[in-house]
Amino acid sequence: MPQNLKILKPGGKVSFAPSILSADFSCLKKSLSPADKCADWLHVDIMDGHFVPNLSFGPHIVKCVRKASKLPMDAHLMVSYPENFIKPFYDAGAGLITLHYESKSDILKLLKKIKRLGAQVGLSIKPKTPLSKITKYFKFIDLLLIMTVEPGFGGQKFMTNQIPKIQYARKKINESGRKIWLQVDGGINSETALQAIDAGADSLVMGNAFFSSSNPVKMINSIRLYNRIT
Ligand code: DX5
Ligand code: ZN
Repeated sequence: MPQNLKILKPGGKVSFAPSILSADFSCLKKSLSPADKCADWLHVDIMDGHFVPNLSFGPHIVKCVRKASKLPMDAHLMVSYPENFIKPFYDAGAGLITLHYESKSDILKLLKKIKRLGAQVGLSIKPKTPLSKITKYFKFIDLLLIMTVEPGFGGQKFMTNQIPKIQYARKKINESGRKIWLQVDGGINSETALQAIDAGADSLVMGNAFFSSSNPVKMINSIRLYNRIT
């Protein structure tokens, strides 16, 4: 049974989700050990070489990640046909499954399918997609993911032109009265994390900056401190 992210306390505090795309798979357990010490959950990027020009992991790898870390996982499905992958990744251990609005699917049907399985539900938009396309789905989701890079690769630069979208998403989530994580993914480091938090994000994905840091635990703790004092 996948671990649910509901065990985490929403509201106010920022959660950190290292993206395992940048982990060292030659020594996975060791590479994930700093995440076990300071992160809230792991972010698993699933790419099909069609929706994005890159390939990543299948369910077997996600099962192995589950054994290598005690953290819950969210699966970010960057795939054209998510219906084929929801159950396999849930069974592999992802407690929250995020779809892309831009995938070639009946989004509402799939959001309901994720919920029926017992997983939490995420919905993501690419940088060029306006938030107005997805506000109608707010009542069906637990997490809204705003991409701050074009999806497909780790280590890209944070797109500051997405900040107004994060601010607007925070406003719309607050107005909805629902408890929805506002996750930001792409180019997050110790500086852009603060910009995303200021804009209203409460879940930060961090790939390259986390796994290339000499002291990721200290970095995350200092961002948490900023979050407490602002
Ligand atoms: C990009 C992925 C991201 C990526 C983030 O398509 O969705 O989750 O791993 O990596 P960084 O933090 O390196 O931009
Ligand atoms: Zn991602």
